[in-house]
Amino acid sequence: MAILKIARMGHPVLRRPAEPVPDPTAPEIRRLVDDMLDTLKDAGGIGLAAPQVHVPLRVAIFFVPGSRSDPAGPDADGVPLTVLINPVIEALADEQAPGWEACLSVPGLTGAVPRWRRIRYSGVAPDGAPIERVAEDYHARVVQHECDHLDGILYPMRMTDLSLLGFDEEIRRSLPQAAEADEARPDEEALA
Ligand code: NI
Repeated sequence: MAILKIARMGHPVLRRPAEPVPDPTAPEIRRLVDDMLDTLKDAGGIGLAAPQVHVPLRVAIFFVPGSRSDPAGPDADGVPLTVLINPVIEALADEQAPGWEACLSVPGLTGAVPRWRRIRYSGVAPDGAPIERVAEDYHARVVQHECDHLDGILYPMRMTDLSLLGFDEEIRRSLPQAAEADEARPDEEALA
């Protein structure tokens, strides 16, 4: 178990597509996932993809706190910590909705990013069990953000209005809803 160094925007490992994991149950994948869990906990984020820790493999981890979920929606209690290997995403809605995101690889910034409101995603857990879920809203946003990392895409590359990219502190000051930023520190919600 170790806390790994997080690559920042501009590092080539974040720009190239990651490779599929041949055996999700392999011991080295278990070790990678353990280190990613330690790293995420240390960084205080809610999601992390393997390329962010300089490992170009299709592995992502995330959770959704209940505080970020629609109390009337299917994820009212949040989504437990999930390890997703070789994920595939399918959009289930025609429309995209903008929402605020931040990223551990783009420290200090936040931006409004259009994402599919409803998706189906699938993948494999480290024990080899298949995962298939339908996700909406914030849950769907987190999964799209993390899976983008596996294709060499950072959230600013998805933005359609770069006037809504800014320093976290400034955006929070002027736009309280920016507190819902992906990968941001959940305990900073109150700062809005
Ligand atoms: Ni990110």
